[in-house]
Amino acid sequence: MRFHFPGFGILCVCFSLLSIVESQAEDSLALNVPIMAYNCFTCHGDRGISQGAAPSLHKLPAKYIRQTLLEYRADRRPGTIMPRISKGFSPQELNALANYIAQLP
Ligand code: HEC
Repeated sequence: MRFHFPGFGILCVCFSLLSIVESQAEDSLALNVPIMAYNCFTCHGDRGISQGAAPSLHKLPAKYIRQTLLEYRADRRPGTIMPRISKGFSPQELNALANYIAQLP
């Protein structure tokens, strides 16, 4: 009887696609930062100028934003929502977000 496993081909295609996506992820980080930051502006307001319950991020130093985000991510800073949100990003992405948000006019 011939061994037949059609799923294997599909698996290979998926893995090769995944590696393409991963290799592009690092390159396009700079391009994706403004898009990632829209997540943050839903609560923190456009350009980080808060209109609601979330604190304003506008004009905060990049170093402070980065430090705070890394602390939320490591559960070293208490919060309602930020510990969860920060875990959805890599430290590199949080760093890029901090730099991006801090330089907004
Ligand atoms: C669902 C609403 C929401 C979203 C989305 C959100 N935040 Fe927050 N953020 C908060 C709240 C509320 C706090 C206050 C701490 C807490 O309760 O978690 C906060 C606190 C912070 C602080 C600390 C500010 C300070 O002065 O101490 C930073 C920095 C921050 N957020 C950055 C971000 C970034 C960057 C993103 C996007 C990746 C983001 N937040 C997405 C609601 C949000």
